[in-house]
Amino acid sequence: DSHCLPFRLTILSPNPNMDIFADTADIEEIRKLNELGIIDGVTTNPSLIAKSGREIREVLAEICELVPGPISGETVSSDAEGMVREGRWLREIANNMVVKVPLTPEGIKACYQLSDEGHPVNVTLCFSANQALLAAKSGATFISPFVGRLDDISSEGMQLIQEIRMIYDNYDFSTEILTASARGPMHILEAAKIGSDVVTAPPKAIWQMFNHPLTDKGLKAFLDDWEKTGQKLGQSG
Ligand code: G3P
Repeated sequence: DSHCLPFRLTILSPNPNMDIFADTADIEEIRKLNELGIIDGVTTNPSLIAKSGREIREVLAEICELVPGPISGETVSSDAEGMVREGRWLREIANNMVVKVPLTPEGIKACYQLSDEGHPVNVTLCFSANQALLAAKSGATFISPFVGRLDDISSEGMQLIQEIRMIYDNYDFSTEILTASARGPMHILEAAKIGSDVVTAPPKAIWQMFNHPLTDKGLKAFLDDWEKTGQKLGQSG
């Protein structure tokens, strides 16, 4: 029965939306984007926290309060035990915290343990499809393949997103592909075309999605023509 199809599709697809996360720990930048209703979460890493110049607990708590979606905070230990301890500490900040661990054997071990305890985990620093397969097998909620850093070394970052999409779809892994290290609007566009579940990008790249000269030109013409009518809109009488 064809008119049942959209309903069925909604049920079958756990995340039919393309989520956009802001890749920053700058609270003002997050606030400005959040007011537009277009961001679904935030990702941070130790470098972004350092750049904010703020205390990690304080800044993450503020971000979690501001944006109701998943907010990633990263562990810094190199052993699984330390990552699990830090992960539990991060999760006490707020219920929407996601624990970010690196794609190392110890990180995967920590992901397995934290996921088993019911904590959402984002496995980061992924540069190959085999690494993404390992993250999915360990129960990761998100996998973060870094497209920009692959492009930086003359590799095709987006090809990795395509490979992971294929592998995850082959086996119905529920781990969400979170395209990370996106540097500009073309990375966001390509990730959406491939079917990445999420893309995280610096605020500048998200703002760049708005840009089109024909929008600016068209708006100017509309307003110039309106001005000529001498009418006022929204005022009675
Ligand atoms: O948060 C991880 C990732 O998005 C970092 O991006 O630009 O430092 O490669 P980038």
